[in-house]
Order: sequence, then C-alpha cells, then structure tokens
Amino acid sequence: MDGLDTLRDRWLRRIADAGDAAALDALRVAALGRKGQISLKMRELGRMTPSERQAAGPALNALKDEVAAALAARKVALADAALEERLRDEWLDVTLPPRHRRVGTIHPVSQVTDEVIAIFAAMGFAVAEGPQIETDWYNFDALNIPGHHPARAEMDTFYMHRAPGDSRPPRVLRTHTSPVQIRHMQAHGAPCRVIAPGRVYRADYDQTHTPMFHQVEGLALDHDTSMANLKWVLEEFFTAYFGTRVKTRFRASHFPFTEPSAEVDIQCSWEGGTVKVGEGQDWLEVLGSGMVHPHVLSAGGIDADAWQGFAFGMGIDRIAMLKYGMPDLRAFFESDIRWLRHYGFSALDVPGMQGGG
Ligand code: PHE
Repeated sequence: MDGLDTLRDRWLRRIADAGDAAALDALRVAALGRKGQISLKMRELGRMTPSERQAAGPALNALKDEVAAALAARKVALADAALEERLRDEWLDVTLPPRHRRVGTIHPVSQVTDEVIAIFAAMGFAVAEGPQIETDWYNFDALNIPGHHPARAEMDTFYMHRAPGDSRPPRVLRTHTSPVQIRHMQAHGAPCRVIAPGRVYRADYDQTHTPMFHQVEGLALDHDTSMANLKWVLEEFFTAYFGTRVKTRFRASHFPFTEPSAEVDIQCSWEGGTVKVGEGQDWLEVLGSGMVHPHVLSAGGIDADAWQGFAFGMGIDRIAMLKYGMPDLRAFFESDIRWLRHYGFSALDVPGMQGGG
C-alpha cells in the first residue's frame, strides 16, 4: 500500500506535537476512531484481492499498533509533565518559621481576685456569692440604711426600671458586696468566716472610679471576734498580698452597718505617674470596715447578744492598681488589646501569696 509511510510520519508528528490530553484524545479519534483515517484505511482491505490484502494487511496493522502505542506513550508523557508542573507550583517551604500565635492573658482583676481568695483561704475564709441585681432591702435596709438615709443618695445607685403596677420589691445594681453578708448570715448563720468577691455598680467616672468595679467583702462572726482580729487579718493580708510589710492607716469613720467603723489606707507614692506601695507620703484608701452593727446581725437572723464580729469591703481594682502599677482605673474596662497584653497575666501564673506580674 502506497503512502503508508507518509501517513505514519504525519500521525506520529501530530501525536508528538499534542500539547495536552484533550488534543491527544482528538487525535486518537481522528486516527483510530470509528471514522478515523486509519480505521477507514483498514476498511479498504475488504475491497482488495486476497494477494493485495496479504501485502497491505500486516503493514496497516503495524501502523495502527504504532499509532496506538505513540498515543499511549504521549499520554503518559503529558501526565508526567502536568505532575511536574503542579509540584513546581505547589511547592511548600516547610522550613519557614510558623505564623505567630497570639495567646490571650488573664485580666489583672481576675488575677488579683484569685490572689485574694488564696490568701484569705489560707486564713480559713470560704468564698460566698450573691446576685449583682439586688433588692433594695438587701442592698440598703438590711444593712441598716433606711429609706431616708443619705447613704442611699451618696452611693449613686443604679435603679432597675420598674413598670407601673409592678408590685415586686425595687431592684438595684448592688452598690457594694455588703448584701452578701446578709445572704450568707441567713443561709448559714454563725459562726462564719467568708469573703465575697464580685462586681458592684455606682454612677461614677474618673481616674479612680468606674461605673462598674470590684469589691471583696469580708465577714467573720464568733462569740468574741473583735477589732483586734480585724486589724490582724487585714495586716496579714496586705503583707501576703504585697510581699512586704505595708504601712496601714486605720481612720475612724462611719458606716451604717458597722459600729465602730474604720477606713483603711495604704502608704504609697505616685511619683513619675506610677504608684508604689510602701513608700512615699501618699495614702490610698482601699477599704471600709468595722464591727458588724447589731441591726445587721438581726436582719441576717443572728442573735446579736450571742454573736459579734467584723466586716470589711475592699476595692479589688484599687489593690490591683497598687500592686501592678496601673495609673488609671478606666483602662481596666476599655478592652484595649495593648493594655491587656501589657498588664495581663499568663494563664500558667499560679496566683501565689506574692505572685509577681
Ligand atoms: N460597703 C462599704 C463600701 O462599699 C464597705 C464596707 C464593708 C464598710 C463592710 C464596712 C464594712 O464602701
């Protein structure tokens, strides 16, 4: 059969030139498909004489096999090339340093709360809790602050909205943790030794006041608990908390729920914009305290002739500022990520007696 060599050369060249799998498949159909050029040629064999067929048949079959083999080989070559290219494109440098993972921090208020709990726990105090939305009875009346008392106005209380006709007792955002005293006395009676850390609310805003802040209440009742015990407990607390003996100043004061009452200041300096405890000429008031008033014991269901004791309320944010040197309380609650990173604590820091920042 004439022209078979030309045919062969043409198809092998086309196959070698096929740029991708689709082009190659089109060539396969055009050559070996049902109406492909080589298939049609093979059909011509039927119209030949036996001797012609004997000569042309093997040659044509050989051509068909050669083209099929070339198609298969080219297919493999194209697949290899595609894989090579993908490997080149998707190359990954596993030696690059990993992307930095940002780790959150423990807020100073949480850290200090844990430190306070740890220190008082070592002195035998348990932790008590109460609601942040209180009735005005627990927040005021039970604490010997009657309706007309100026302390109600002084505290800049947030009152909860009350629909007209609502007969439930008026509710407030608790202005201090002292109502937990009443709740604890009612639930557990005397003797007792508890602290109650938590959020409190007053409409006040400046460098050392925010509308929400944190207090820890203390309450210790027994037959002969006295002001002397109060002073010892507090001085012991400050020593453990600051890790050094800190000068304290007990000032006679007045609270409706304690008699006698004392406010306690800590010696500090504000030089250079940061506060340092245990030096300098300044004092920072950190708590109010006193002997629990008999009216308060009675409101808590406790026999005021049989039991007596002390209570105190301390500003957690204040003592955090003093220990860790934050100059402005407002920044505590602004959620500025830079402040949180700077003043926050590692989750692995154990709140010890003198835990450093
Ligand atoms: N509740 C007072 C305050 O918020 C503090 C205090 C607590 C004073 C207990 C005496 C006794 O200022």
